[in-house]
Amino acid sequence: MQTVKRLAELRAAVDSLRARGEVALVPTMGALHEGHLTLVREARRQAPKVVVSIFVNPTQFGPTEDLAAYPRQQAEDSRLLEAEGVDLLWAPPVAEVYPEGFATTVSVAGLGQILCGASRPGHFDGVATVVAKLFNQVRPDLALFGEKDWQQLAVIRRMARDLDLTQPLAERILGVPTVREADGLAMSSRNRYLSPEDRARAAALPRLMLSAIDQIVAGKVDDALERLKRELLAAGFGSVDYAELADAETLAPLRALDERPSRLFVAARIGGTRLIDNMRVR
Ligand code: PAJ
Repeated sequence: MQTVKRLAELRAAVDSLRARGEVALVPTMGALHEGHLTLVREARRQAPKVVVSIFVNPTQFGPTEDLAAYPRQQAEDSRLLEAEGVDLLWAPPVAEVYPEGFATTVSVAGLGQILCGASRPGHFDGVATVVAKLFNQVRPDLALFGEKDWQQLAVIRRMARDLDLTQPLAERILGVPTVREADGLAMSSRNRYLSPEDRARAAALPRLMLSAIDQIVAGKVDDALERLKRELLAAGFGSVDYAELADAETLAPLRALDERPSRLFVAARIGGTRLIDNMRVR
C-alpha cells in the first residue's frame, strides 16, 4: 500500500491506478473499526483498485466539539488498511486541504439543516465541502459510505446530483449497511469515549429503537417517539437531540407511515458523547 500526503503525489499515484481499472474511494477520519473495514471490503468487491482517505476534517466540527480529542492512530490504521489489500492511502495534512486563503463552502440546503444539521449547525457544510474536495482530488469511479450516517449519505448524493459530478456519478455513491457490536450498538470511533458503564447502557439505544419501530408499525407514531425519548433518558442517556420518523430519501418528518420507505433516526447523548443511529421501518 502506498501512502501519500501531498496532492501532487496523489494525482500521480491515482493516474497509475486508474490505468489498471476502476477506482473506488472510501473516505474516513481514521480511528478505523470493523464498520470502516466493511466499507473497504465492499469497495474491493466493487472495483479492482481501492483508495482510502484518512483526514480528520476540522470544518465539520463545531467550536465546542471534539476535534482536538478525536482519536488519531495513523500507524495502526495503516496496518489495518494494508491487511485489507488497500492500494493507496491518502492522508493529507490540514494545510494541504485548507491552504491559507481557502474560502469556498459547499452547502446542501434543507437536507443539511434538519436532524443532525439542526443540532450541529454547519456540520454538513463541512462534510459536503471536504467530500467534494476528496472527490475532485481522487476522481474515483465509485465511492462508499456507511448507512450508519444515513443523512450524510443523503447530503453527499444530493450534492453529487446538484453539481453534476461525474467522478463519481451520484448513482455510484454506494451505501453500506451499519455494522454493529454484539449487543447491537452501531460501531463508531466515538464509542471509545464511553466509560464501561455508559458503554453498557448505550446498548439501550438500538434495543429501544427496535421496540419503537414495532409500535410505529402498529400505527402509533407520536406515542412511539415520545416513549422512545422517555425510555432513553430512563436508560441513562443525558439528553435526546432528536427521535424522528422520516422519509428515507428526503428525510422529511413523517407523522404516519405510508407506502414510501421510512426510517427511524435518533441522536442522543450519554456521558457527554453524542451517539446516532438509524433503522429501516419499512
Ligand atoms: P468516519 O466517521 O470516519 O466514517 C467513515 C465512513 O465509515 C462513513 O461513510 C461512515 O458512515 C462509515 N461508518 C462509520 N461507522 C460505521 C458502521 N458502524 N457501519 C458502517 N459504516 C460505518 O463519516 C466520516 O468519517 C466523515 O464525515 C467523512 C465522510 C470522512 C468526511 O469527513
